[in-house]
Amino acid sequence: MKKIWTILAIAAVSTLMAADGEAVYKSKCFSCHGDKAAKAALNKSQIIAGWDQAKIIASIQGYKNGEGGPMKGVMKPIASGLSEDDLKAVAATISSFK
Ligand code: HEC
Repeated sequence: MKKIWTILAIAAVSTLMAADGEAVYKSKCFSCHGDKAAKAALNKSQIIAGWDQAKIIASIQGYKNGEGGPMKGVMKPIASGLSEDDLKAVAATISSFK
């Protein structure tokens, strides 16, 4: 019985710790990409709202590796600061924006 409670407790904690894409977006992306990612960041980026989750992840991985467009220097530190979980969560949030 004790074992079951331990497992339940761990499950509850990891649910709480799960990355919240909406919160990540608001705190780390909103200022440039705008409400619901509908704005061209610094008037330069493509509009990323509704992009496929996989495409967003690939693009961010690219920035981490020093790839990207003319303004990639802006995205590099942001991309590098995202954990794997935050990236997945925020990419799902952005792809849900229409
Ligand atoms: C300081 C402003 C700024 C912030 C904050 C920012 N971005 Fe960007 N983002 C840009 C700019 C500028 C570009 C275009 C870079 C380039 O030339 O490749 C861009 C490009 C992108 C692209 C690729 C779009 C394209 O044009 O190819 C994605 C995806 C993206 N950002 C996601 C994010 C996510 C996710 C976050 C938050 C974790 C974020 N950005 C935060 C400025 C920002």
